[in-house]
Amino acid sequence: MPRRPPPERPEPPRPRLAERYLTQRLVLRPLEFEDAARVSRFTSDPAVARMVGMIPLPHPRICAEGWIQIMKARAPLARDFPYAVELPGEGMIGCIGVHARGEGERARLYELGYWFGRPYWGEGFATEAAKRLAAAAQALGQIIAGHYLDNPASGRVLEKAGFVDVGRIEKRFSLARAAKVETRIMALAAAAGEWRESA
Ligand SMILES: CC(C)(COP(=O)(O)OP(=O)(O)OC[C@H]1O[C@@H](n2cnc3c(N)ncnc32)[C@H](O)[C@@H]1OP(=O)(O)O)[C@@H](O)C(=O)NCCC(=O)NCCS
Repeated sequence: MPRRPPPERPEPPRPRLAERYLTQRLVLRPLEFEDAARVSRFTSDPAVARMVGMIPLPHPRICAEGWIQIMKARAPLARDFPYAVELPGEGMIGCIGVHARGEGERARLYELGYWFGRPYWGEGFATEAAKRLAAAAQALGQIIAGHYLDNPASGRVLEKAGFVDVGRIEKRFSLARAAKVETRIMALAAAAGEWRESA
């Protein structure tokens, strides 16, 4: 008689983040389909798309809508927590999110990612949003982030948001470059020791 596979142990329910967060100047809120036009416009800039993992270049509006739809459909899994970053009076200026990276023993590992439209760079917005979301996300587990070595500005944002170098460089794929790129892994200081040991 064929052996039955052992029963799968169900994963415990995952904790969730709040629907929205406020910072001094920004609102982190759920993504809506109406955001697709600005997502497409800002991320069709090579200086944005080439610095993130899974954004195509160019990034047509229909694809941005598809991404928003996928994020909405995945919400019940509580693995992805994407936010539109809104500058009141101006509109959506970027996106930031926390995404589960593992299963089983690594179930509590989450990664922070973000991008901002080029007109809004250099005003501290990324740092402000990253600090807020990273602080909230600590309740989920270990928070890591990675930036391409040729993107020191993002490394600086992460440092200012409380992330530290864990001495690990990985090659990670960039869709816009269609290539793997050397990536520095950082971890939120509170959990960095734990991450180093388990890496
Ligand atoms: C990286 C990015 C998020 C920064 O957004 P931002 O709102 O301009 O960031 P902030 O203003 O909060 O901080 C930027 C910091 O980087 C520094 N910086 C900018 N260019 C730099 C460079 N070439 N080298 C080193 N530091 C740099 C700034 O001086 C600032 O640090 P400071 O406050 O100590 O002076 C934005 O440029 C972006 O969206 N880039 C494309 C997408 C991306 O890189 N996403 C992150 C993927 S890991």
